[in-house]
Amino acid sequence: MSKLINVGMIGYKFMGKAHSNAFRQAPFFFDTPLTPVMKAICGRNEEGVKEAAEKYGWEGYETSWEKLVKRDDIDLVDINTPNSSHAEIAIAAAENGKHILLEKPMAMNLSEAKEMVKAVKKAGVKHMIGFNYRKFPALAFAKKMIEDGKIGRIFHFRAVYLQDWIVDPDFPLVWRMDKKIAGGGAIGDLAAHIIDMALYLAGDISSVSAVTETFIKERPLPEASGGLSESAGKEKGEVTVDDAIISLAKFDNGALGTFEATRFGLGHKNYAVIEINGSEGSMRYNIERMNELEYLSGEDGDEQGFKTILTTDATHPYMAAWWPPGHMLGWEHSHVNQVYHLLDSIAANRSPEPDFFDGLKNQAVMEAMSQSAQDGRWHDVEKVEI
Ligand SMILES: NC(=O)c1ccc[n+]([C@@H]2O[C@H](COP(=O)([O-])OP(=O)(O)OC[C@H]3O[C@@H](n4cnc5c(N)ncnc54)[C@H](O)[C@@H]3O)[C@@H](O)[C@H]2O)c1
Repeated sequence: MSKLINVGMIGYKFMGKAHSNAFRQAPFFFDTPLTPVMKAICGRNEEGVKEAAEKYGWEGYETSWEKLVKRDDIDLVDINTPNSSHAEIAIAAAENGKHILLEKPMAMNLSEAKEMVKAVKKAGVKHMIGFNYRKFPALAFAKKMIEDGKIGRIFHFRAVYLQDWIVDPDFPLVWRMDKKIAGGGAIGDLAAHIIDMALYLAGDISSVSAVTETFIKERPLPEASGGLSESAGKEKGEVTVDDAIISLAKFDNGALGTFEATRFGLGHKNYAVIEINGSEGSMRYNIERMNELEYLSGEDGDEQGFKTILTTDATHPYMAAWWPPGHMLGWEHSHVNQVYHLLDSIAANRSPEPDFFDGLKNQAVMEAMSQSAQDGRWHDVEKVEI
């Protein structure tokens, strides 16, 4: 029987639910070297968090994260709160010797992210950022193909991330549109994911330029604060983050990149699409068709064309633990794969990926994009110390 690892989770809504499901499912599907024990979940509203604890299968609950991170019977803290609390909670968790799984974006800004890296290094704990898209078998397989030289030298990395949930000007001003809580708008919410895919698949980014826009400057305040949707009240408030960002980038290896992220891409729900063009081949991936990787080989001569690889064979990353070929995975399975990877890494005493160092690099890219959007100039991406 594998050893036990006691988990404490903070935040119980969208990501809290996805991660709770992942901790339940991971030992069911994978031979995890550590078995997670879902000790306690934390939220500020006692009635709400108690209900979540019962529904999601947690042994107990807390209403103070400060208390949760100090508990002797917790080994791993999973942080699923809005962005403004990431640094404070993660640093406290590290200081109390807890391993950490933290949702993206890592922090509100680069200086916070640096402090977080310092804290985890000092504490010697394991740390992971919830860039769960890396855990789709197709994307992990794309990484393997690139490492195997299937696309050769990379010339272009092209990415868009389009959603449309705030096109309606009467959609309320939820925390994702409040700079004090979110740090940024489409940039941290959406662009962070495609930047992570770029860093994972195409390498480090050296400089960027960007433009941002806030299309709807005022919105009704929500009747109660909450996640992606909330009912609108009568009073209005100012939207203090970007609604959309478009960025150009140069990579250290000479490749060129483009990034577009918006929550005004009418008709698109969660359309995160990347395309990479190299000297030997090209590949394309769309999160809305998460089991498929499109690949074109330059060697195919006059039979050249994109083919669709269904990444559901047992030989594809993570798939041996799941269903027979062609029996598809969904979005929540990336979180299960993520938890498996984290537990496996902790047991093997190696850093999970993506870890806080990857989060820090991501934050440095976002910082340079934000600066460029403000002053209209190209900005070098700070080479962060890891
Ligand atoms: N990986 C992904 O694809 C993905 C998707 C959505 C959100 N996220 C990230 O996950 C994080 C949470 O987003 P969400 O959509 O789950 O938000 P949400 O609003 O649905 O949930 C936030 C939760 O945090 C709790 N919370 C807030 N402040 C708290 C505090 N001080 N103490 C205890 N609990 C507190 C809230 O009560 C709520 O339960 C964000 O950083 C977001 O960027 C990641």
